[in-house]
Amino acid sequence: MLSLLRSPVNGERLELTERAGETHLVGTDSGTSFPVRDGIPVFIDPGRLNAANEKSRIYYDILSPFYQLTQSVYYNLKGGEEQSRNEYLKYVEVENGDSVLEVSIGNGVNIKYLPANAEYFGVDVSWGQLRRCRQNIGADRNIDLFQAEAEHLPFCDEAFNVVFNVASINYFENKKKAIDEMFRVAKPGARMMIADETEKAAHAHNKLPLFRGFFNSSRDPISPPIDLLPSDATEIRLSEIRQGLYYCLRFRKPA
Ligand SMILES: C[S@@+](CC[C@H](N)C(=O)[O-])C[C@H]1O[C@@H](n2cnc3c(N)ncnc32)[C@H](O)[C@@H]1O
Repeated sequence: MLSLLRSPVNGERLELTERAGETHLVGTDSGTSFPVRDGIPVFIDPGRLNAANEKSRIYYDILSPFYQLTQSVYYNLKGGEEQSRNEYLKYVEVENGDSVLEVSIGNGVNIKYLPANAEYFGVDVSWGQLRRCRQNIGADRNIDLFQAEAEHLPFCDEAFNVVFNVASINYFENKKKAIDEMFRVAKPGARMMIADETEKAAHAHNKLPLFRGFFNSSRDPISPPIDLLPSDATEIRLSEIRQGLYYCLRFRKPA
């Protein structure tokens, strides 16, 4: 795992060091140090994130104990969680031995529906979500977690066979930067997928008290970020799923 890691600040290699009984990942050139807490490397500085990411971090830290409950209730109204999530997860196409990165992994529920015989990696800004993710997944999957921003991934170029992101890009302040990062860490030929709610769903959420602050009415209408894909992305496919409440954008990095 160490060989895949790079500083999200300047891309330098990292090495593990023990300091005063604590583990750190330290930049081999600059000496910049990132703590490892409860086995999860921390690559963010809470309080110094951009406004959108700080808002997400705080919101999901508070929501994380109830996140699965909200998902179960919501998906049960829509015909079942596994079935609904499989409407986009079927496009992820994980093969034996793949290295798979979920950006904004939340509590890890998507990973539970993907094959066990792969190596999983998850990034999220919320410590609360990452801790729930580790509890939820337990020993069921081989997974490494990182507290980091989608816009500054702590990985080397061309690290993963599959990279995907579900239900978060709508919140990002810099969607283009996050997509470029996903593309950078994908191997040549990698399968990639981005799914999130459509304007139709966000409009409905605007009426719910818990979500009103998130989808404020002055925002631009949501559109799938197809125009933000790198110019060399191939096999681009866009579809609407769940009665038009979600879009699912698939593409590949050229081989
Ligand atoms: C609605 S949850 C989705 C979680 C999971 N992907 C799922 O499908 O259930 C959104 C997640 O995105 C994370 N998030 C939001 N902005 C982020 C960013 N810029 N970088 C990394 N994670 C982010 C939040 O902390 C939260 O866990």
